[in-house]
Amino acid sequence: MAARLPSSWKEELLARTDIVSVVSSYVTLKKDGRRYWGLCPFHNEKTPSFSVNPDLNMYYCFGCKATGDAIRFVMEMERAPFMDAIKILADRAHMALPEMQDDPDYERRRTQRERLLGANREAARFYHDRLWQPEGRQVLDYLHGRGLDDGVIRRFGLGASTNQWNDLTAYLKEKGYTQEELALAGLTVVKGENAFDMFRSRAMFPIIDQYNHVLGFGGRAMQKDAKPKYLNTSDTPVFNKRKGVYAINLLRKHRDLKRVLLVEGYMDVVAISQAGVVGAVATLGTALTNEQARLLKHYAPEVHLCYDGDEAGQHAIERGLNILEEEGVPCRAIFLPGGLDPDEFIRQKGLEAFEAQRPMSPTAFRMQRLRLRYDLTAKDGRADYAKACAELLRQVKDPVDLENYLEALSIQTDFSKEVLLEQVRAGKPKSETAANKPRPERETISAKRGQASGGYKTEQTLLAILSKGKLNAQVVRPEDFSTPALRQTAELLLAGETPASIAADDNLSDETRAAAGEAFILAAELDESKLVSITEDCLRKLRMISLQKEMNSLVQQMASLQKAEGDITQADIKAKTLELAQEIDGLNKELALLKLQGR
Ligand code: UTP
Ligand code: MN
Repeated sequence: MAARLPSSWKEELLARTDIVSVVSSYVTLKKDGRRYWGLCPFHNEKTPSFSVNPDLNMYYCFGCKATGDAIRFVMEMERAPFMDAIKILADRAHMALPEMQDDPDYERRRTQRERLLGANREAARFYHDRLWQPEGRQVLDYLHGRGLDDGVIRRFGLGASTNQWNDLTAYLKEKGYTQEELALAGLTVVKGENAFDMFRSRAMFPIIDQYNHVLGFGGRAMQKDAKPKYLNTSDTPVFNKRKGVYAINLLRKHRDLKRVLLVEGYMDVVAISQAGVVGAVATLGTALTNEQARLLKHYAPEVHLCYDGDEAGQHAIERGLNILEEEGVPCRAIFLPGGLDPDEFIRQKGLEAFEAQRPMSPTAFRMQRLRLRYDLTAKDGRADYAKACAELLRQVKDPVDLENYLEALSIQTDFSKEVLLEQVRAGKPKSETAANKPRPERETISAKRGQASGGYKTEQTLLAILSKGKLNAQVVRPEDFSTPALRQTAELLLAGETPASIAADDNLSDETRAAAGEAFILAAELDESKLVSITEDCLRKLRMISLQKEMNSLVQQMASLQKAEGDITQADIKAKTLELAQEIDGLNKELALLKLQGR
């Protein structure tokens, strides 16, 4: 029987827990104003961007956007499940664990999750079976044509979706799954009266997690020009493309894996595995995310990125290296010449040639990328390139490594190593250059005390005030917020949720939690005695932004009216233009008034 903590007990636990002292057992915190700062335990950093707000009982990192309450913090630090974190905190607070309560809603969600995973598993079997039947012949031929043998096809559980419109849907309904469940799982598309298969005429790649759950699918089109080439399951209650990693289920099978090899495509993973490469995985049709980087960290001491050899792939490697470094994952990049992807490279040149491609350190890779931007045949180009590299080299701590880079740079630019070293040392202090990643922290804090400039900052400030429980639904409405994340956060606050519980809520997307966490943590910066005027200021700014938008659209209407021809008479155009002009005039006056009030 699924049971849950009574929510009043959880609230009491959090109220009796001093988040500053919990975090302090892991992180050294320094007080600044009403907030505490420290080096983030969730990503690698040298200047503190991890912040704790004791008033709201929550933490937020301006670097990696980790956020939550004390329970979530302990869960993440100890890699502990919810109930273990609860026990640790209850112990600290000298509270006895309560009787567990039955929770029908929790039970319903858990059952739904199991049902969807069940449907996915059945679907994967169904697609795989189809491959060996006449209906799947085309796909099987295609896979064979790409050099895959039956062994590797079985290992990855590849399959075929047929060209019939409800092949899978009919089968799974027969098995007792409802249309609603199949639609939720992303297997079936419902349009009016009809329900048809999401995937048709595609080679199917089941996406399986580390616990062997089938979470979703990628399907490669059979027709050459079919769009999209790869169709992926969209996000469902069990599948989130930003969190999952393709083929992660196979990583555990290798002991002492030296490195995880991250490639771009499903087909790359399968094809190079067939050739004998171990530890290959791919992201799910998106760029590498922080969550994925954190997940990969557990499987091998290093992650190597080997994306397509084209410009897009190389650029993606740079971003991937940044993410991995942010998460403290040792990483390298493998460059494939000729614009080839790993699948093509191995097929054309063989496994040995692939393994002979030396993985480069992030710095060496970044230098190689920089080299493309400068003309090294010209003196100026070499000087600019040398300076740009010196900026990079400022981050290198190991003197031996630095010596090696300087030597290479000296050969490329004709500057002596001594001069180059001086250039490295002469740069601005690291905190200001921070070549790789702009620190969002300082900018965001300028939103403090209501000095909001852009619309987003204004909305953040409003949300911060809302999080203090000082505003009600008459003053601020969810519609006032322009991004879905801020709007949803406003709704939850107005519905009585606490900031810390929103920041820690697993049912929300990471984007929403991060946006909420950032806004809440800024609440500590607000000047309590000026809340009323700050609020008025924010509302006024939002009104001005919306007036400006309205005006732009009227001006555009006016412009298109001038170009109108055909049905509309000259007199009509005149009348309509006059009408628009009056409206614009009205808006202008209101804007002017608001501007005046803002002085
Ligand atoms: P590529 O276009 O590089 O495909 O996309 P590929 O792996 O070389 O495919 P083949 O060799 O033509 O079969 C790489 C990855 O980008 C995502 C998929 O995850 C794919 O594996 N992608 C690509 C999509 O999600 N949708 C698309 O339409 C294309
Ligand atoms: Mn390819």
